Amino acid sequence: MSLKNKVTIIGAGFVGSTSAYSLITNNVAEEIALIDINQELVKSQVMDLQHSVPFWGFTKVKVGTYQDIKDSKIVVITCGASQKEGDTRLDLVAKNSVIIKDIVPKVFKQNPKAILVMVTNPVDILTNIAVKLFPTKRNQIFGSGTILDSARLRFLIGEKLDVNPSSVHAYIVGEHGDSEVALWSTATVGNVPVENLKELAGGVKKSIFDQAKNAAYAIIKGKQSTYYAIGAGVAQICHAVLHNTKAVMPVSHYINGEYGIKDVCLSLPAIIGSQGITGTLNPKLSALEQKQLKASAQTLKKVISQL
Ligand SMILES: NC(=O)c1ccc[n+]([C@@H]2O[C@H](COP(=O)([O-])OP(=O)(O)OC[C@H]3O[C@@H](n4cnc5c(N)ncnc54)[C@H](O)[C@@H]3O)[C@@H](O)[C@H]2O)c1
Repeated sequence: MSLKNKVTIIGAGFVGSTSAYSLITNNVAEEIALIDINQELVKSQVMDLQHSVPFWGFTKVKVGTYQDIKDSKIVVITCGASQKEGDTRLDLVAKNSVIIKDIVPKVFKQNPKAILVMVTNPVDILTNIAVKLFPTKRNQIFGSGTILDSARLRFLIGEKLDVNPSSVHAYIVGEHGDSEVALWSTATVGNVPVENLKELAGGVKKSIFDQAKNAAYAIIKGKQSTYYAIGAGVAQICHAVLHNTKAVMPVSHYINGEYGIKDVCLSLPAIIGSQGITGTLNPKLSALEQKQLKASAQTLKKVISQL
């Protein structure tokens, strides 16, 4: 069966439905199928999304089944338990690893060529589980990783400097979670290294990074879930795959030797195209950043070893 510019999203809760909405508003996909075990919820989400389409463009939106994966180029996984107030992302591992082990084989049974984008948390651990189940599909499987954390960092730097955040080039790498690492040594505003900016000197960088890292806790306290920003990020990932844009994004993928780190999924800048991860960049990191990245990898490996 030939593949369409179609995205199947498994999980029609806050994140799945907002990802669909972002895809619709940006006219990224020709078709979106939403799957959820809660049939009442998914039917209602689909109706509401369908009614937005005349305002934006042309996307066909439907309640899906696993059959929809057959002709989908992308499957996005957003189903499972989400963080409640006080939970870390790693607290979700027991529940969500069971769900992912069940779903991922079903996805590739329907369509061995699908690009699988993991969003459910803990995203690095679940991406790792999927890669271990299908090691030959390493480049087809990746997680949204720290795209969200990096967007938060870019927003906060832009706000501090009164600069458009799209002109802020800064990455958070490592775990999407408490051990993540801000790469200040390679961050620029325009083409000016942030290390040279006096507005970010002293404790300002640390304060900005702490806000970016802890944003999910702050948002969940007020509204139970975070979804607009990750929905926009999912749409950007899908755009890169469906239109083979070769955009660079810090997605969670299998690391096999970079910076002395082996056999774990975490985020580092990667090139995204129609085949999934088509290349990686290995920025030169400071000694401290390398040490922090290794510690982040160790945090993830410890959780994986306890599964
Ligand atoms: N990676 C990121 O940056 C990021 C950001 C925000 C949220 N998340 C994660 O996304 C996930 C979803 O969050 P949410 O706020 O949308 O939660 P939610 O509770 O609103 O939605 C989850 C949905 O999954 C469905 N579901 C559960 N098991 C299923 C299964 N086996 N098959 C199909 N559907 C199933 C539920 O019925 C529910 O509708 C969480 O794990 C959350 O932590 C990740």
